[in-house]
Amino acid sequence: MSDALIAEKREDMIAAARAAMDTAYAPYSGFHVGAALLFDDGAIVTGANFENASYGLSLCAETVACASASHSGRRTGLLAVAVLGGMGGAVEAAISPCGRCRQVVNELAALGGTDPLVLCVGADEIVEMRLSVLLPNAFGPKDLSSLRPNV
Ligand code: THU
Repeated sequence: MSDALIAEKREDMIAAARAAMDTAYAPYSGFHVGAALLFDDGAIVTGANFENASYGLSLCAETVACASASHSGRRTGLLAVAVLGGMGGAVEAAISPCGRCRQVVNELAALGGTDPLVLCVGADEIVEMRLSVLLPNAFGPKDLSSLRPNV
């Protein structure tokens, strides 16, 4: 039961996101972000933001985590995403994934047909919502007839 696994792994996910945040490369914004993805076998894959001197090319933590998951062969079974961040790594307010990251997470979720729970972790609160609430009526793989069978 996926909700039970999310509950069981919730603290592990948050700890993993915090540890990932410590690897953030964010010399331009100073805003460090960590993300953790939970899969249906209990595995957790993490990412941190990776900025670029050409600012607009910076990669967000959630995007790095999704790319890492794909790179390790995980393209199905995404159950939950935890994200946290703050200036210099000091977590205060809960942050939610940016628009681009919502779309990137949607790609990974859609491949396995899940609607992951997103945990936006702040110092004093955790805001939870399904990806479908953060990104309603999403455009995704289902909308393309030209999918190649290499997923
Ligand atoms: N950032 C993330 O890593 N994830 C988000 O969802 C929001 C923003 C990063 C991008 C940039 O490196 C820094 O936070 C400030 O925007």
